Amino acid sequence: MRMSVIGCGYLGAVHAAAMASIGHDVVGIDVDERKVAALDAATAPFFEPQLSELLAEGRSSGRLRFSSRMADAAGAKVHFLAVGTPQTPGGHAADLRYVDAAIDGLLPHLRAGDVIAGKSTVPVGTAARLAARVGGSGATVVWNPEFLREGWAVHDTLAPDRLVVGAETDAAGARAVDVLREVYIAAVEAGTPFLVTDLATAELVKGAANAFLATKISFINAMAEIAEASGADVALLADALGHDSRIGRRYLGAGIGFGGGCLPKDIRAFAARAEELGRGEAVGFLHEVDAINLRRRERAVRLVVDALGGLVFGRRIAVLGAAFKPFSDDIRDSPALDVAVRLRGLGADVVVTDPAALDNAAAAHPQLGYARDRDDALREADAIVIVTEWDEYRRDLSPAHAGGLVRGRIVIDGRNCLDAAAWRAAGWQYHGMGRR
Ligand code: UDX
Repeated sequence: MRMSVIGCGYLGAVHAAAMASIGHDVVGIDVDERKVAALDAATAPFFEPQLSELLAEGRSSGRLRFSSRMADAAGAKVHFLAVGTPQTPGGHAADLRYVDAAIDGLLPHLRAGDVIAGKSTVPVGTAARLAARVGGSGATVVWNPEFLREGWAVHDTLAPDRLVVGAETDAAGARAVDVLREVYIAAVEAGTPFLVTDLATAELVKGAANAFLATKISFINAMAEIAEASGADVALLADALGHDSRIGRRYLGAGIGFGGGCLPKDIRAFAARAEELGRGEAVGFLHEVDAINLRRRERAVRLVVDALGGLVFGRRIAVLGAAFKPFSDDIRDSPALDVAVRLRGLGADVVVTDPAALDNAAAAHPQLGYARDRDDALREADAIVIVTEWDEYRRDLSPAHAGGLVRGRIVIDGRNCLDAAAWRAAGWQYHGMGRR
């Protein structure tokens, strides 16, 4: 099927490449000419496993191209809307300027019967507003939220847990749902649940899913606070809770909390929209979820300060990790970098290392020290802090090897990802988050 993908960031670039890989004829559109040139040369503009391979395959098959001209979207049967919806500067609501600009740009190129499938995370009510705006063109708006996780984006796009399509209940809506089913026919035939809803429900699914995930992480981090005060161990607690199949162990990883380009801004936008709808109190708990999350960063800093005797000024601290999570070079609202910045703010001599996100981190925070090589970061450190659970730190760094490089054997495990007993046995002072 001929399709366009408007907006080629983490979401759109992966969607375009994945759709081409299953046989569709795809044009990806983005206003950023440098990004378009990179994608057209089959170079992934960000770190995402499998993306480069899919881009190369799509380019050589002739089924995938990229352009900065909206006119190149003309003739596509479906236009996927995948532009960003960042947090409004100075506020909590989602900034819809890129969504509106995409629709304005697309409008002159629409034909009757075209389907616009929104994938961006938007406040509930946006799809209906856009539908009214494009109504005169004869195009139909549906909402098809995306649940992909960075680092797993290709996998999640090609083999999603579920597909959700929100549409109006009229004939045009039903036709548009059929078009989306055809787009995803391979996944549907493989058994992926295909849920058809109204527009508002489809928009809400995404916000609600992210609110739930954020709440689950903050719940266990709240338990970490109680564990710290009572001498319990939150990791063992999570294991025990996780065996209850109604609860489940996933997303019960206590540590320095969640970050990234989605969860933090999405829960704030969700709460802001609920307030606009006069139902702010229904999601008042999301403010707590946010507050618990931010307290964990402060807690990690306190652990470092206490472990170093109350003062970090001039002390060398190796910060292992900058990305908001492993298998990503994304530093948006990264708790890892936030911890590094706070320690630097206290006068510490901070050296950050990361296998993928170092350039992004250095561009955003030039005041920090950086080392490309993990061992260079560890050398002469008075303490080390693990803030992103890359395999390079979690699995491959032996306490004996690290012990031979540092000045002080103090490790703060901000992700509870190390074998505490092994590190202690090698003479390290180990501090986890909410662990004995
Ligand atoms: C998230 C959702 O998972 C995805 O469905 C949605 O489409 C976008 O937002 P992503 O931001 O890629 O995806 O990351 P995710 O893997 O969910 O992790 C988010 C943050 O939570 C990371 O900072 C991670 O380190 C943290 N996290 C995750 C925890 O602190 N504990 C956990 O147990 C799990």
